[in-house]
Amino acid sequence: MSQCEQPYILVLYYSRHGATRDLALNITQGVESVTGMAARIRTVPAVSAVCEATKESIPSEGAVYCTEDDLRNCSGLIIGSPTRFGNMAAPLKYFLDGTTNLWLTGALINKPAAVFTSTASLHGGQESTLLSMQIPLLHHGMIICGLPYSEPALTHTTTGGTPYGASHVAGQNNQPLSDNEKQLCMALGKRVANLAIKLEQ
Ligand SMILES: Cc1cc2nc3c(=O)[nH]c(=O)nc-3n(C[C@H](O)[C@H](O)[C@H](O)COP(=O)(O)O)c2cc1C
Repeated sequence: MSQCEQPYILVLYYSRHGATRDLALNITQGVESVTGMAARIRTVPAVSAVCEATKESIPSEGAVYCTEDDLRNCSGLIIGSPTRFGNMAAPLKYFLDGTTNLWLTGALINKPAAVFTSTASLHGGQESTLLSMQIPLLHHGMIICGLPYSEPALTHTTTGGTPYGASHVAGQNNQPLSDNEKQLCMALGKRVANLAIKLEQ
């Protein structure tokens, strides 16, 4: 990070139909509610099973693609993916598999990190996705941060929101985030931002 650049939490997601992006936008609000911390929102390109995709460097809409520098220079990281067969989607995994340089140099060690996901169904694998998304972050030496039960929405929710990270149950018709899901997104962004400030002291 250049000396004049404000510290930021990188909110990095993949989303095909917009539900995970909506979670990311709410998490960003939580990050930005913390004085002294900005949010940088980034996405990753889709991948193809038949060839190496060569995407334009700037997507036609939405967040721009994440660079290695975006990741290297963050003060904290929050990653999100739709649940696919109980796990993160390939485009985000593909991006993470390309972070060897950062692992070799220990660039992410001791930075706080958190995860989020969206599913179609209530019991469709949110926890397995969230927990497995934490694994590469642990390999990078990051400090994993979940949601504590002092957040009332965690007890009251009948939709998404877990101690392992923020989540959304989109259903078959891509229903909007519930109030509890939004509150837990805010709480997660805020928590990672506050932790990043404390860890940098
Ligand atoms: C290949 C594939 C696998 C999926 N697997 C699951 C699953 O295991 N559990 C579930 O509840 N939803 C599953 N879904 C549904 C998505 O997780 C859900 O629609 C999600 O909200 C999409 O997020 P997005 O709008 O950010 O793309 C799957 C969707 C696809 C395309």
